[in-house]
Formats: sequence, structure tokens, C-alpha cells
Amino acid sequence: MKNICIIGSGYVGLVTGACFAELGNKVICVDNDVKKIKMLKKNILPFYEPGLKELINKNRSKLSFTSSIKDGVEKSEIVFITVGTPSRDDGSADLSCVERVATEIAHSINNYKLIVEKSTVPVETGEKVKYTIKRNIVKKIEFDVASNPEFLREGQAINDFFHPDRIIIGVETKKAEKILTELYKPICAPILVTDIKSAELIKHASNSFLATKISFINAVANICELVGADITKVAEGMGLDSRIGKSFLNAGPGFGGSCFPKDVDAFYWISKKLGYDFNLLYEVKKINETQKQNIIKKVEDALWIVANKIIAVLGLSFKPDTDDIRMSPAIDIIKSLQKKGAKIKAYDPKAMKKSKDVLKNVEYCKDIYSAVKNSDCILVMTEWNEFKNIDFEKVKRIMKNPILIDTRNIYNPEKLIKLGFVYKGVGR
Ligand code: UDX
Repeated sequence: MKNICIIGSGYVGLVTGACFAELGNKVICVDNDVKKIKMLKKNILPFYEPGLKELINKNRSKLSFTSSIKDGVEKSEIVFITVGTPSRDDGSADLSCVERVATEIAHSINNYKLIVEKSTVPVETGEKVKYTIKRNIVKKIEFDVASNPEFLREGQAINDFFHPDRIIIGVETKKAEKILTELYKPICAPILVTDIKSAELIKHASNSFLATKISFINAVANICELVGADITKVAEGMGLDSRIGKSFLNAGPGFGGSCFPKDVDAFYWISKKLGYDFNLLYEVKKINETQKQNIIKKVEDALWIVANKIIAVLGLSFKPDTDDIRMSPAIDIIKSLQKKGAKIKAYDPKAMKKSKDVLKNVEYCKDIYSAVKNSDCILVMTEWNEFKNIDFEKVKRIMKNPILIDTRNIYNPEKLIKLGFVYKGVGR
């Protein structure tokens, strides 16, 4: 059993905290947002993640919430930093929260601490954290800095925590290595121990590589459209090669979320700063942006004049099983269609509450069928399971025009065409 402090009770922090508590550790979750801490004490979570609320509830006796870094640090041996590292306008990562937290940790250190960066940060951040703590530490107390990047996916974060493909531990001392390998002992996964810089790079390189895979398949999808081939078959054929693998080869409206867009930008930026022009990443980003334009073009091709047409958008979150709409292609596409004069009706199983803050003049509907009623076109933006079993005969009866744009290729085109739909997928 370890005493752990997690600074930053956002997505990564809360999931990590709850999971470490489940493993038997005593965890203090810290956040400077006092309102958030009050809510967490009442078991009200700031976002939706399957199973998280239940896990926090189950481990109440081992989990506590506070807004005081001092409190959390003093009572813990291991201190995880899981604060936000948002993009600046130029694409670089804004590390001011990491610096502030490192300074406060330095002021609070009362005995040996292992400070672990878990937020996604550019290479060399560990060095800067160490330097900041050294500069601000009051007493002469030993500490270590480590990097333990997080690979959780939203919507399946708890399962990812307990069953990861690998655990990366970037350390400088044997002591830090021992503490972290012991902490992760209950988890059955390969542990790779590296230096801190390599661990930091593994995270940026992994996310950028996955984003590259998505942009690559989206580019191939465009070729498929030009020649009349089927991207789902092309991806299947490619994926059967074990060197390529079948995951992350689903063509669609482009990647979104809080990680890929930000991490591709930040990796491009830090590489440039270090003296290497990582142009490939620039292209990855460009393809991703163009993909949204391609979807809008599909809508225009199907409807001709978009102004005053009713478009039923199914799915607002950037992927299923989350209410997260950050960098969701659905949000950008809806805004562009609204600019062209389209009237938007929308339904999402979880993300409508958050969408209301950023999307105005949208008619939010209580279910799929009220959204598609009287619409000129359905635009499926997220592959929620609920959307896979739609009664299309009913949909056809209640729509104005049976046009379906399936940006996630979740339906069988033949079946829909046979039913009388105009069907447009991506890359087929
Ligand atoms: C990602 C990484 O997978 C995870 O390891 C890291 O810790 C955080 O960033 P997440 O953002 O939760 O996780 O979502 P992910 O499932 O990776 O999907 C990212 C985006 O790519 C989504 O918009 C998704 O729709 C898109 N995507 C994914 C595709 O368009 N095609 C695919 O084949 C796979």
C-alpha cells in the first residue's frame, strides 16, 4: 500500500486516482478548482466515463479530495502530476500549470518524494520540473522526478488502466524505478524502464503515430472515392499484415478529442524548436482538417442547396462512450453547415449537455427518431452502438428525403440503397 497524491483531478487524474485506490493504495486527489472538489466529495463527476463513478464510490475509504497541494504532498510518497497541458495558439504545449504545480510541490516537500509526470508533455519537461523544484525547495530534502506517460482512451479508460499494452517508466535512479515497479506490480503488463526523455518521447511518438495512421487511411479513402474502391476492404487487407495491424485504420471524419490534435501540434512544435522539421506531422494535421471539408462536400453534393435544409446529426462527441466534445469533428462540421444556412437537429446519447455551451441554434432531440423526423438528410458523426441498430424502414417513413451520410462507415450500403436511401460513406 502506497500513499499517493494526484495533482490535477481532470480526466487522467481521476481515472488514475480511482484505479490506484482500487489496487489498495491511499490516494489524495488535488485540484485548484474548489467547486470541482466540492462536487467530487458529493460523488458528482465533471465528465462521463463508464464505470468511474461506481469505482470512486466503491473506494471512498481510500480516496480523498482536496484543493490543497500542501496537504496532498505532505501525506504522500508518490506525487503524480496530471494537470492540463493545453495548446497555445502556435501549437506548442502550455506548461504553465506544470511549472506552478512543481513550484508548489517544492514548497510543500517534508520528506522524500517521487514526483511523476503523467500529463502529456514535450521531451525535456522532466528536466525542467526537476530544475524548478530544486530552485524552489526550502529544506535540503531528497526527491526524484520520473515520467510515466498515460495511454488511457476515453470511454474505456478503466479497462485500459488495468489491462494496458505496456507500462512506461522513465527514471533517473534505482530508487524511483523500484517504487514505480512495485506500484504497478498488481498489473499484468510488460514494464519498460527507460530514461526520462525517452519515456516522454514514447508518449508523443505513439499518439502522433496513431494519428498518422488515421490520416493515412483517410487519404487512401479519398483515392478509393476517386476510383470507386472500398476503403473498408482496403483497410481489412492492409490490416491482415501483422506488421501493419488492423486497428486505427477506420476512415472517417478525422481524429478529434483532447489528445491527438494537441499532441501532433506539440510534437511538431518541439521537434522544430529542437532543430528538426517534422513535416510529416504537418501533413497529418492538414489531411485531418481537409477531411472535415470532404464531409461538408458530401452533404452539399447530396442536398445541392444546403440553406434551409434540415440536417439530422447523430453523434456529437468525438467518439462513442464519452460526453467529450473537445475537437470533435461533429462540432466544426455543424458550425460550417450552419454558416451555409442549414437547420440542425441533433441527438447524442451523452454529449448534448456539453454541446449546448458551444453550439447555438440547434434543436436538441430526445432520441434518434425525433431527430430524423422531417429531416432532409441524416449525418452520422459518431459510431455509438445505439446508432447501429436503427429501424431504417421507420426512418425512411418519417424523413423528408431518405439521404444518409455515414461518416463512420457503420452501415451496409447495399441494404440501405435497397431500402431506397441515397447512401454516402467515407471512401466507398
Ligand atoms: C488517445 C490515445 O488512443 C490514448 O492512448 C491516449 O492516452 C489519449 O489519446 P482518445 O483520445 O481517448 O485516446 O481516443 P482514441 O480512441 O484514440 O481516438 C482518437 C480519435 O481518432 C477519435 O476522434 C476517433 O474517432 C479517431 N479514430 C480512431 C479514427 O478516426 N479512426 C480510427 O481508426 C481510430
